Amino acid sequence: MRIVSLRFVLTITAVLLIQIMLFLYWHGERVKRYAFIGHDRVNATFANFYMKYEIMTDFSASRCKGKQLFVFVMTTVSFFEQREVIRRTWATKSHTTDVLVVFIVGKDGNETKMKLLQEENKRYDDIIETTIPDIHAGYYLHTKYCFDVPYILRADDDVIVLPDRLVHFIKSGYFENTEKAIYGITWNDSKPVRDPSHKWYIPKEYFTPDMFPPYANGPAYLMTREAPKAILEKTNETTFFWIEDVMFTGIMANATGVKLVDSKGIFLYHCDQEDEAGRHALRNWGPVGFCMNETSPCDAHGVPYVTIIYHSPDAKRSDMERGYASLIKVKCEGATVAG
Ligand SMILES: *[C@@H]1O[C@H](CO)[C@@H](O)[C@H](O)[C@H]1NC(C)=O
Ligand SMILES: *[C@@H]1O[C@H](CO)[C@@H](O)[C@H](O)[C@H]1NC(C)=O
Ligand SMILES: *[C@@H]1O[C@H](CO)[C@@H](O)[C@H](O)[C@H]1NC(C)=O
Ligand SMILES: *[C@@H]1O[C@H](CO)[C@@H](O)[C@H](O)[C@H]1NC(C)=O
Ligand SMILES: *[C@@H]1O[C@H](CO)[C@@H](O)[C@H](O)[C@H]1NC(C)=O
Ligand SMILES: *[C@@H]1O[C@H](CO)[C@@H](O)[C@H](O)[C@H]1NC(C)=O
Repeated sequence: MRIVSLRFVLTITAVLLIQIMLFLYWHGERVKRYAFIGHDRVNATFANFYMKYEIMTDFSASRCKGKQLFVFVMTTVSFFEQREVIRRTWATKSHTTDVLVVFIVGKDGNETKMKLLQEENKRYDDIIETTIPDIHAGYYLHTKYCFDVPYILRADDDVIVLPDRLVHFIKSGYFENTEKAIYGITWNDSKPVRDPSHKWYIPKEYFTPDMFPPYANGPAYLMTREAPKAILEKTNETTFFWIEDVMFTGIMANATGVKLVDSKGIFLYHCDQEDEAGRHALRNWGPVGFCMNETSPCDAHGVPYVTIIYHSPDAKRSDMERGYASLIKVKCEGATVAG
């Protein structure tokens, strides 16, 4: 009697174990991806301090396999609706063949929001949660897990991009074969602010020269695969301050010989926006040639160059739906209307 029941228990245990193993075999990758457990502990070392952070979403390198473009979007936990807009406009399946799009979000003290974020990630599987939201994490993820992906786009959460169009230009060789390069709207003659009461004040101990090196405008820029890695290797020789684009695409990129390529035309401002006072249609921001128009020069395949747009400096945020609608409607300059 006793022996029978022991055999019975053993059999049941064995069956259960096999089931668990089978479940993990089939679903292990997903279980790992959904688990919000501590994973990568990163020590971002700068010359003046170091910052420890954790990438809490387990990231599997298989997600990058065969991709041409790695897009990381910087956003915050509470911008649920903003992420939805992106998913239903430019990050749909039809725009993202050969592309991986992830959202990098920081921790939020509000538990309700974190629960919602986890629900969201279960549904879409496109969120990377970190303890400190920083573009460092995007550079790090690409360098560590996705180094085979040849191009990286860093984007704010109100950037509008057509990833498939970008992949077209990548494949057609538009971006010259430079090992380490950054493409974007570049600024060549910015000066550090020396007024201590100013938001962007940079003390001389942090940055001594009177001019910043040329850098790419922060909201969106494209990098070749060697660029993020080379830049990360220079953090320890660079004094940290809080102007991310100047730091990463200016000072550190310059220190490691990353070529900065002004790609206005691919990148443009969406100037058809409301400004802070609610005025509309700022169609001619600043210098000529920065605003997207209804037509654009096109390549030999008839593809308009304009691919990535975001609000001009005098508007606070992009109107995503309208920007997307305008971007996909852009026609080739000088094209004759058939009929
Ligand atoms: C992080 O790096 C700094 C500087 O290289 C070092 O002093 C510190 O011990 C490191 N911290 C950890 C936790 O590895
Ligand atoms: C946490 O977030 C929820 C959902 O956004 C909000 O309703 C609630 O007021 C927040 N709680 C605190 C303490 O801020
Ligand atoms: C910065 O310099 C590059 C090349 O030297 C040039 O193509 C680009 O237009 C310049 N950008 C601005 C905003 O003047
Ligand atoms: C920075 O780190 C690299 C290795 O990544 C090392 O070779 C170099 O000596 C470090 N520089 C400083 C100033 O610590
Ligand atoms: C670094 O910046 C200087 C000007 O500040 C420029 O002359 C030089 O070409 C830059 N180097 C690279 C690799 O861009
Ligand atoms: C858009 O049109 C305006 C007015 O014709 C022109 O000045 C500007 O250069 C155009 N923008 C671009 C990016 O071509």
